[in-house]
This record gives sequence, structure tokens and C-alpha cells, in this order.
Amino acid sequence: MVVLPTGATPRRLYAALGAAVAAGRASLAGVDLFVLDEFGGLPLEDPARCSAMIRTDLLDTVDADPERVHHIDVDITDLGAACAVYEAALAAVGGIDLAVVGLGRNGHVGLNEPGSDPTSRTRVVQLEPSTSAGAANYGATYEPTWGITMGLGTLLEAEEIWLLVTGVHKREILAQVLHGPIDPDVPASLLRRHPRLLVLADDEALPADPSA
Ligand code: PGA
Repeated sequence: MVVLPTGATPRRLYAALGAAVAAGRASLAGVDLFVLDEFGGLPLEDPARCSAMIRTDLLDTVDADPERVHHIDVDITDLGAACAVYEAALAAVGGIDLAVVGLGRNGHVGLNEPGSDPTSRTRVVQLEPSTSAGAANYGATYEPTWGITMGLGTLLEAEEIWLLVTGVHKREILAQVLHGPIDPDVPASLLRRHPRLLVLADDEALPADPSA
């Protein structure tokens, strides 16, 4: 089972995956896919919904089995039940083999904002203003104030974690994640506790001076 992020960062990976599937070099047909998080309160057709982004950026171009693609249901009244259903679904497929996550400018992972509990599970979260405003980058028609995310505790149980980081605007926070203290105020730094963390960063996100 694989956890997948949405947003700008994974688009190059998803394009490469789409090309590999088209060329017959890869297949997602037998893989359970779980979307990492979801904004709440957006209209059903909003392009910034994580379920919409994963569809246009990946699912439309690969052979994933729709029955094996899992989204967080932010549209039901009982949000606590939606979180419990998601945790149960990932337990039912045997847990997370690989969690692919991006890095927020404020150090968040999924929607685990600064200050998140390292043992947190899938839950409703309030968004920092920068995260709410950032949804406009995805074409949001409205600034979301909350969302549901897999928790840090949930993600840290994965067999393996890949942290994808792209762009010069992530350079400063990546340096903190890699070299600063392991601190819930920089949630991605907590991933360093994981024995199989792979950080995949492009040249723009890496320090200009590689010895820095
Ligand atoms: P981005 O978002 O990939 O659109 O930069 C990453 C994140 O906020 O987790």
C-alpha cells in the first residue's frame, strides 16, 4: 500500500510514473493507493481538492484500480467517523508499505502543521494561514481553514518514507528539516526518527553550498 501526496511537488514524479505505465514498464493495477490528506469545505468540483489533484496529476494517466484508490471523505457530517474509517481501511490492507510526502514551506507534512503531536493519527486539523492561502496555488475557489490528514504517528508506522522537496522556496525549510533539531514545530524533522527515510530533493531545494 502506498500513500500519495498532492500539490505541485509530486507532479514530475507522477508524470514519470504515467510515462512508465504507458510504456508498459510499470503498473499500479495491484496497488492500494491512499491519498495523504484533504482540504475541507471546498466545493465538490474545486480543483484544489486533493482528490481532484490526484485524479488529474496521476490517476487519469495510470492503470490504478478505482476500487483500490482511497480518499478521505470530508463531506460527511461525522468527520470523526471519516477519520476512523480511513485508519481502518489502511489497517485492513496491512498498513503502509511506502508513504510519499511533500514538505510545506512551514515544515508541515500532509496537513500536520507545526506543533502536531508526533503520535497523532488521522484527524481533523485547523490550517495555518499560509497553508490556507497556499490552496490558491492549486486553483482553490475558496480558502480552506481546515482539513483531514493522516497523522504523523500513522505515517511513522510506514515501512518506508520518501520526502519529496522541490524548488528554491523550500531550501530554507529543508535545511531546518535536515540539520535543525527534531522538533514538532518543524513536523517534517520528526521523520528523521524513521529508520528508512529517503529525502529526494532537486538542485533548487538543496543548499547552494553543498558543504553547508
Ligand atoms: P507543494 O505543497 O507541493 O504544492 O509545494 C507541499 C505541501 O504543502 O505539503
